[in-house]
Parts: sequence; C-alpha cells; structure tokens
Amino acid sequence: MPSQPVFTDKSHLVVFMPSGKRGRFPEGTAVLEAARTLGVDIDSVCGGRGICGRCQVDITVGDFAKHGVKSELSSLSPLAAAEEKFKERRGLKDGRRLSCHTKLQGDVVIDVPSSSQVHKQVIVKKADDRKIEMDPAIRLHFVQVQEPDMHNPTGDFERLAAALHQQWGLDDLECDLRTLQALQKVLREGDWNVTVAVHREARITKIWPGFHNLAYGLAVDVGSTTIAMHLCDLASGAVVASSGMMNPQIRYGEDLMSRVSYVMMNPGGEKLLTDAVRDGINELIATVTQDADVDPGNILNAVFVGNPIMHHLLLGIDPTELGGAPFALTTNSGMTVWASEIGLTSNPDGRVYFLPCIAGHVGADTAAVILSEAPHLQERMTLIVDVGTNAEIVLGNNQRLLAASSPTGPAFEGAQISCGQRAAAGAIERVRIDPETLEPRYKVIGCDLWSDEDGFEREVLQSGVTGICGSGIIEIIAEMYLCGILSTDGVIDGSLAEKSDRVVADGRTFSYVLRRGENELKIFQTDVRAIQLAKAALYAGAKLLMDRMGVETVDRILLTGAFGSHIDTKYAMVLGMIPDCDLGHVHGVGNAAGTGARIALLNKMSRDEIEEVVKTVEKVETAVEPKFQDYFVDAMALPHKTAPYPNLSKAVTLPEAKTVPENGPEGGRRRRRRRT
Ligand code: FES
Repeated sequence: MPSQPVFTDKSHLVVFMPSGKRGRFPEGTAVLEAARTLGVDIDSVCGGRGICGRCQVDITVGDFAKHGVKSELSSLSPLAAAEEKFKERRGLKDGRRLSCHTKLQGDVVIDVPSSSQVHKQVIVKKADDRKIEMDPAIRLHFVQVQEPDMHNPTGDFERLAAALHQQWGLDDLECDLRTLQALQKVLREGDWNVTVAVHREARITKIWPGFHNLAYGLAVDVGSTTIAMHLCDLASGAVVASSGMMNPQIRYGEDLMSRVSYVMMNPGGEKLLTDAVRDGINELIATVTQDADVDPGNILNAVFVGNPIMHHLLLGIDPTELGGAPFALTTNSGMTVWASEIGLTSNPDGRVYFLPCIAGHVGADTAAVILSEAPHLQERMTLIVDVGTNAEIVLGNNQRLLAASSPTGPAFEGAQISCGQRAAAGAIERVRIDPETLEPRYKVIGCDLWSDEDGFEREVLQSGVTGICGSGIIEIIAEMYLCGILSTDGVIDGSLAEKSDRVVADGRTFSYVLRRGENELKIFQTDVRAIQLAKAALYAGAKLLMDRMGVETVDRILLTGAFGSHIDTKYAMVLGMIPDCDLGHVHGVGNAAGTGARIALLNKMSRDEIEEVVKTVEKVETAVEPKFQDYFVDAMALPHKTAPYPNLSKAVTLPEAKTVPENGPEGGRRRRRRRT
C-alpha cells in the first residue's frame, strides 16, 4: 500500500491536462488521489501500489499564466522507492511519474497521457478515423484480502467482497460456483493478495494469485465463407494480431441453406457443423496468440458476430427452424456465455458475448454493421449493403431503420460463373475494355502490373491467371456493357464478332474471350445472366426498403462485407446493383461487421446501445412482398429498365439503349460450360 500522505496546512493548485480539471489539495496529497477527487480519468489495476504502471503521468514544466500556475519539477515529491523499483523492472520514461506515488509539494500542471486513461479514445477504423471510448466489459482489480480469523468467522468470498468494496468501491458482485471452487486455493497461493477479473462491474469471472496485469479480448466475425478474428489488448484497445480462414463448414455445403439442408438430412449433423466452426475458431486463436506471443489464458472476453445460422451453429443450437418460413430464431437477444460452454481454447472462464440477431434472415453480423456505421445516429438517409451469398440491406437514419435480406446467390463471390473463383493469388480483380478495339486489359491479385504492361506474364508465372474473383466479375460485366458488347438486356452482341475476335459464337449465344492461351477465360451468356439475377435481387431488395421508407433516393450508400468492400463503387452502380446516388457518397467500408465486433469488445455500453437499436429495426421480408418480383424483373436490365441514373450519368457516359436478340449463328442447343 502507498504510504499515507503527510499533510501540512499548505495547499497547492493542480491542473490536469487535457481535461483542464483543477483543484487545490493539501501538500502531500498523492496525484492519483487528487485526480480521483476531481473525476480525472486515470487507470489503475494495482490500486495505487506502484506495481501496475497504469497510472503514469507527465509533469509539465513552465509558466501557465492562463491557469495561474508556475509548474516545476520540484512541485512534486522526489522519485519514491516504489517508482525506482518500477523503473528498474519495467522502465519509466524521463519526466514520467507513477501518480499513485507522486505527492504534491507545489502548484503543478499534470498531463495524463492517453495510455493512462481508462476511457481513452481508440481509433477502430482507419478509413474515417472512427474513434470509440475504451470501456471494456472486463476490468482487473488487485486486492488485499483480510485473512480468516477464529473470532470473525466469515467466508473467504465474503472477505474478498469486502476488500473489493473497500479498495475499489465494487458492490453486490456475483460469483459463480466455478469461481468459488477455485477461490480458497488462489487466496492462499497469493498470500491473500489476488487479482480479480470483474465482468461489467457485476460478476467475478476469474481470480489469480498475486498481481495479474494482462487482459485480452477477441472480436470475431463468423461468416459463412470466411472467419475473421482480431486479438485486442483490453488495456490499450490495440489490435495485437489478426487472422482469417475459410469457414471449415464449407465441406458440408457452400452456402448457408445447403448447410441447413445437411442438418435436415443427416440427424445429428448440426453437431458436426458446430464442431467444424469451433475447431476453426480455435485454430485462429492458436494463430493470433502465437503471432502476438499472448497466453490464451489471458483472453478474458470475446465478441462474436455472424448471420443467424452461424450464430446458432456456433452456440450449438440446431438451425433447422431457420431453413424455412417463418424462420424462427431460438433467441434474437444479445447473450453472454462462458468460453468453456462453446469449447473455446482461450481462458475457459472468459465471457463471450453474442450480438443480438435482427430476424431469421438478418443476423448479429448486420447488428454489428449498424453498430459500426451508425446510421441510427445520422440524419442522412443511408443505404448499407453487405454483399455476400445473401445480401443484407439496411436503410435508414436517426428516425427509422429498416432491414432486409435479399437472396443474391453466390454469383458475386465467383460461384455460378464459369471462370469465377474466390479472391486469391492469380484471380483477375480489375478489368478494362478498350471501347474501340474491344481489347481487354486486367490486373490479377498478387501482381501490381496491368496485363498489357511489360513483365506481366513473367510476374504471374507462378500464380498463373486462374479465374475471375467477385470484383473482377462486376467490372468485366460493367465494362462489357459500357463498350456496347452487352445490350441493355444483358445480351452479348454477336454482330461484334465481325469487329473483334474477342466476341465468339458459343452455340446459340456468344461469349467474350478475356484471356487467351492454355487457361482460356471466357465470359459466357450464362455468366452475364447469373450476375444479372444477383444484382436484380439486390436492387429489388433495396427498392423495397426505399418504398417502405417512402424515399426515392438515398443520401449515401455503404458497401461492406469481404467482397463488398473491394468492389469499385462506380462499376457497382453501372451494373445497377445499387440505386443511383452521388458517387462521392458511395463508399466501400471494409469489414463493418468485424469493426462492429471490435467496438462491442472495447466498449461495453455499445452492447446495450445495439441491443436497444435492434429492437427498433423494422424487418422487411422480401420473399412475401408482392412488388419484389416486378422490381426484380425491371432490375434485370443494365443498369435498370426504368430507373434513371442521373448521378451516374454525370460520372460515366452510359451507352445508348440497344436491344440484341439472344440468338447465335448456329441456332443449336445451348451449351453450359463449367471450369472444373
Ligand atoms: Fe498501479 Fe500506480 S496505480 S502503479
């Protein structure tokens, strides 16, 4: 414990920066105590014992006339023995002091660095410098517990609770049997000094003998295709390691519904799917902890987001009911479980939070997207599209929020496209077509050169040019339309075969040769159709929400999801995936669901916020809306049969509307080609 201050009748002015809070305190008052009295935010795990180093402050020297202070180094007590010891053990920057052991001897200006603030601001999104306030659900508290006494026969837990009350002001803490079972041993092992992890100021979740200073958390986005994980330091908010992997459930079905079908057709199959996703997550835990050199036992909190089927399977809940109308969720509320209950290899006594689901089709991942992009805090009418096998669409502002899911199918992810593939080295991701010659040029993942630049073939020798990923598919279809290769109805214009040998007959229809050679890559009429179906479903879903909202236009559009964030927004609009909007207000926002998970991990109040917001979201079932079919049919055209695209027309010269009969020279049967 720090030594007691020696008070004299002198008092000194202390000003804390950057808050500007100030007050007068008797000589000998510890700076930490003065800060606490004034409500200045300074961190501590050890409770002022000079062990944790979280309470560091900088002494600012100078004449601060506007504060009425002349601040000098001598305004503070010399380095205390505990500080010397800390400096020797862990290092202390010049001019830094441990505020718990530094006492006032004169007027002083004290700077609290952000690293010492409990509620520091951390940037969670580089793109727009989105900041949140650090306020994690798990806090560590070092306490000295009174030893048992024959004359005062209270239980060890009761004395621990009394110590937490006296030393940290924590009251009415719950303690589960699993924690009590370890309590006596830990107290004695620590010689009555222990560190306690407290979840949301309400529940003791873990106790260590002696001093323990490390707490980490996981933010995990469990997608049907990929799983993305961030390991975060719960003191600084920093992401210390990130990793991702394909969802191992893919072996039971490419898309969500095929996995539900697997469960329906194979009794007990849900267990295999649950084991697969949990194994994948544990593999990622091993990777991130190894990368950051973090003991998995120090992971004390985790936040998971995912679509309803992933959410249920990870929790070990049979998703069969989500396979058909009325798509009933077991629960749509946010929930917290023990890490051991879902078989995580992080600390089994960690708490794991699942964001709430919105509806049977719209899950916790969409809730996380809302938390990340915060349309509910904006006046601007915002359309958010999470592009994946299903597109989740959110529309609204601070007055009202609507959400829907639209069945786009896997075409945007490269499936159902003859030369489609997932985004990986060798996949074409960008395409341009010369409108005069119809010659293409492209870029592949893993190579910075365009295909018409010197050295391209040499650079791609190892990866090859293996197919087209989602963003490349969007671009080539849009470019084919802009160059007149595709009609407004999406038909490949066979008459151009006379002009370019890139347009070739393919049975009754035509195709466009993107790459010649051993691994020829062609866009077939069927590929164009698959993209048209997907984009029409997406547009029709957005249009339904706009109808319900009573708006003709939106103020901004955000594209998210692993794929959505790589799309060139201009091409997405040329294709008519999204409604017309000022292109300056259409952005890819990265993995917003993952960002939402991080926000919920680092700021516990955001969990309450999103739970409240989700209750207000109105769900629109696209499948039962009679207008959906009409909207869908109109949206098959490029970019749309009837909707004008005035903003897009300002940025891009759209071709004259033209119609081409879908009829090739042979009039033979249509061939369906697939790369294997
Ligand atoms: Fe822990 Fe000062 S509060 S070192």
